[in-house]
Amino acid sequence: MKKILFVCLGNICRSPAAQAIFSQKTREAGYNFTADSAGTGEWHVGRPPDKRMQQAARLRGFDLSQLRARQIDHADFYEFDYILAMDLTNQADILSIAPANRHCDIRLLLDFGSGTEREVPDPYYGSGDGFAHVLDLLDDACEGLLLHLENEDH
Ligand code: 4NP
Repeated sequence: MKKILFVCLGNICRSPAAQAIFSQKTREAGYNFTADSAGTGEWHVGRPPDKRMQQAARLRGFDLSQLRARQIDHADFYEFDYILAMDLTNQADILSIAPANRHCDIRLLLDFGSGTEREVPDPYYGSGDGFAHVLDLLDDACEGLLLHLENEDH
């Protein structure tokens, strides 16, 4: 059973939404991959996801209200098979703290997407539309990730 950690900067917008979308797709497909999320920053630790992201996700049937932000931790590099970053800065920040003998693959989430974009843009300081666009990108990449993990397991 593969374990996936989705990581963004604050763990209140992109990565909790990715966690919820991937978890729902996993359940629907009958797999038991596990998912969690974390941020590289510590500002929002203990807080629920951003209201704007919660609302945009609720419109698509995802309830983020029970999730709470946490910061990525040393143990995560041994606990998870994949640590998936939302953008290149995020990936560089993760790599800068990754222990040399880690067991996980540290990739960009959109490596599994079907489009040409490589980064999930940070919606925090943008307009309302940014959240819907982020959810589109996350949904597409989670679909691709699930297919990848299914193939890997066989
Ligand atoms: P996230 O978005 O990384 O997708 O959770 C952000 C949340 C908070 C901040 C930046 C990005 N912040 O600067 O507080």
